[in-house]
Parts: sequence; C-alpha cells; structure tokens
Amino acid sequence: MKSIRDFNLEGKRVLIRVDFNVPLDNHGHVKDDTKIRKCVPTIEYVIENGGKAILMSHLGRPKGKVVPEMNMDPVAHNLSRILGENILKLNESVDVFVPSGKVVLLENLRFHKEEEQNNKEFARKLSLLGDIYVNDAFGVSHRAHASVHAITEFLPSCSGLLLEKEIQMLSLKKIEKPFVAILGGAKISTKIGVIENLLKKVDYLLLGGAMVFTFFKAKGLEIGNSLYEKSELAVAKRLLKNKKIILPKDIVVATEIKENSKTKIVPYNKIPKSWIGLDLGPKSIDQFNEKINKAKTIFWNGSLGYIEIEEFAKASDEIGNIIANAKAVKIAGGGDTFITINKLNLEKKFTFVSTGGGASLEFIEGKKLPGIEVLK
Ligand code: 3PG
Repeated sequence: MKSIRDFNLEGKRVLIRVDFNVPLDNHGHVKDDTKIRKCVPTIEYVIENGGKAILMSHLGRPKGKVVPEMNMDPVAHNLSRILGENILKLNESVDVFVPSGKVVLLENLRFHKEEEQNNKEFARKLSLLGDIYVNDAFGVSHRAHASVHAITEFLPSCSGLLLEKEIQMLSLKKIEKPFVAILGGAKISTKIGVIENLLKKVDYLLLGGAMVFTFFKAKGLEIGNSLYEKSELAVAKRLLKNKKIILPKDIVVATEIKENSKTKIVPYNKIPKSWIGLDLGPKSIDQFNEKINKAKTIFWNGSLGYIEIEEFAKASDEIGNIIANAKAVKIAGGGDTFITINKLNLEKKFTFVSTGGGASLEFIEGKKLPGIEVLK
C-alpha cells in the first residue's frame, strides 16, 4: 500500500477522505472531536509539504438527501479552532469551484445517494478536485462507498497517517505476551468473528456486557429477565469449551432498566427470576483486574455494563481505569469504549484508541476492508 509519504505534495491538491462523522449536541455543536483531532497530523503533513488539503467526509446517515442539520458547518468550526486558522467550507462536494486556501472542507458526501452506491461517475467528479487521493478514514473503510473505493480508479491513491497507524495497531501483530482482551457489548452475534479471531492470539479473553447472559443461559443457569440471544446458544456452548474465556463471577442485577431502580449484587449462578443483569459486580472487577495487571498487551472493546445509566457504568469505568493504568501496550477499539475513555479522560494513557466502530470490529475479525484492499 502506498503511503502519503511516498508522494511529492509540492503544489498538489490532496483530496483526503476523512471520517468526520462526529456526534453533535442538541445545539448542533460537535460533542466529541476526537475523530477530527486524529486527522490533523495528515492535514498538517500536507500543508508542511507544500500541498493543499481538500477534505471530504460524511456526517450521519442523511440517505442521499440534503438534511440541513447534517451539514458540515459545525465540523468546519471545530477544525478551524484546532488548526488555528479559518478553513474554507464549501456548500457542495461535487461540481464546485475550489477557491485558493490551504484547507478546504467539502459538504456532506452522503447528501448524494451516489456516494453510498459506490457510483463511478460521482467518484470521477470528486476526483476532479484533487491530484492525489488519500484515505485517512479508517472508520469508514469497511464501506465500499464512492469516496472510499471507486475514487481510487481515478487518482493516484494512498493511505494517510491515521489509516496507517490504525492498521499497524489493530493488526495486533507484534504482541508481547501475556495478551489479555476484554470484550463487552450486548450481543454475541455481532462479535463472534472478533471472539474467534482474538482467541487465536490471546492468553485470556475476559467477557462482559449483556453477551455474558447468553453464555450463562447456555450453561443452563437462571438469568432472570437479562438479555440473551436464543439463536446464539449453540455458539456460546461451543465457545465455552475454550478455557481462555473468562466469564464474570458476580453480577449487578436490577428490577428495572431505569435510574434508581432496586439493585443488588449476586453470584453469576444466582440471578433471581425476573431480575435483570445490568453490570459486573466487584468480584468480577477484581477477577479482571488480576488478569489485566499481569498482561503485557491489552485490547479492549465494548462496554461491560448498561452504561447509558450511570449506576450501571461502574464496571466499565473501573476496568477502563485499570487498563489505562496498567503497564502494558493498551489498545482500545472504538464504539462504546470511546464513551468511557472520553468520559474519564483516559485517552492519553492508552497506547492507541481506534477511531473505528464497525470498521475496527471487522478489522479485528480478520475481514478485508474494501477501502484498505483497494489501496493495495
Ligand atoms: C462510524 O461512525 O462508525 C463511521 O463513520 C461509519 O459510519 P456509518 O456506520 O454510518 O457508515
């Protein structure tokens, strides 16, 4: 795969696909700008090497229509603040005149249905805006969309600095043992590939989140009204044979999924009928702590409890802190994990936090991501 470092950027228009799909607050302001900040090294690299950075991204899922609340203005404000200079934001992404200036941001690519259709003509029109194409959007590289895939037919193409770093870190290649992975989330069905691939590499796989109840159910245990996936019981049974998998010892159960509901901590095999498991208990945290502290490499993906309600975010918060303070290579794969890391301001303590949600999961699963494959 060619890198941006392989090109002479002097006087070139460098068209960069970034993933500026960031959350907005109720006032339409950027709520979390991690993804924007992580692309800055590539943007600065282009400018320092005499190029002009033309940035393009999607925001949300406008489904091919112009949705004013999803325009890129808030992102442009945020990026201008980070770069310390006003960037130019255009109101279109194709058929536009790009004025002079070092950094330009195009309008939301997904205002055109052709983007998600990987439409060649749309990609060709985008390509007219640049001399070189750079993919720095790891988070969207699992999508064969026009600005990620088809565009590479029309311009010399390469990876940006963030994409390179994501690939290097998430490949989990040069891992020092013991290697411990912590995986959370509600469903086994979305994580089977990840679990199976990680099992080939880890010494221990610590499981949390609602997916543990499918495992408990597969063991024939009472799980009350906890969430589980009937369709995955056979898979869970099979996976349980693998001794690397560590399930939590105790669970925080509640009568309802709401704030201030009645809660108690019970052993994993004593979940009362009609109660709902919503977080891991203190013994599980100790149990995870012990494994994490012996690890030389740690990978974390997914929440360990129902973090939407603060009361049930305890295990994720505590384990997040334990990982952050461990003396190891610490890698976190996006999605919900991001919420806890940002809430507790832990990012600096991690070796690497991926910007990918679905993309990082697919990558860890060992799937080939179209946006990366096409650069090869
Ligand atoms: C993300 O936020 O995970 C990426 O920007 C991809 O967004 P999408 O799931 O809407 O394609």
